[in-house]
Amino acid sequence: MSGRNPIFHLGPGSELPAWVEVLDRACFGEPWGQLSGQEQAWGFLDQAFALWSLNAVAAEAELLRIAVDPSLRGHGLGRALLEACETEMSRVGITTLLLEVRVSNLAARALYEAAGWKQDGLRKAYYKNGEDAALYRKALVP
Ligand SMILES: CC(C)(COP(=O)(O)OP(=O)(O)OC[C@H]1O[C@@H](n2cnc3c(N)ncnc32)[C@H](O)[C@@H]1OP(=O)(O)O)[C@@H](O)C(=O)NCCC(=O)NCCS
Repeated sequence: MSGRNPIFHLGPGSELPAWVEVLDRACFGEPWGQLSGQEQAWGFLDQAFALWSLNAVAAEAELLRIAVDPSLRGHGLGRALLEACETEMSRVGITTLLLEVRVSNLAARALYEAAGWKQDGLRKAYYKNGEDAALYRKALVP
């Protein structure tokens, strides 16, 4: 993937920049808003972002949202961002990664599975429209 912008990071309490809010709203309807005490964001400026909740005591991190600008999808940006985040999680001592995703979101599920995440459960009727959530997990080798 050429032409990728440098990675950015925002810590707890940060306001998300306007371009994240626009992409967030386009992908998920409601933008996430300000990052709370355990939440952090990584991304490629103007191109892609990932929101995580880190639990340092449990050495766990949950991927809350990941999104790539629609015009840039299918060129490895999502995979590159996920890998960069996983490297950072490992660096700060996280050993378990978790996420939940709509069962119908085949692109995201394919991305996670290609990156070595394993489905380990299903949460029935988890979303407002009654859709199930697939639960995924990945162990990080310290
Ligand atoms: C999911 C998403 C982040 C993937 O980003 P992306 O940059 O297009 O993904 P990549 O190009 O890095 O693809 C990596 C791998 O994911 C899988 N993948 C990505 N898009 C896919 C698609 N539309 N169909 C099937 N597999 C797909 C493939 O395995 C791909 O590897 P390959 O290219 O070697 O086949 C992007 O589609 C997106 O922003 N979706 C909307 C937001 C969303 O649903 N986020 C997830 C829920 S939080």
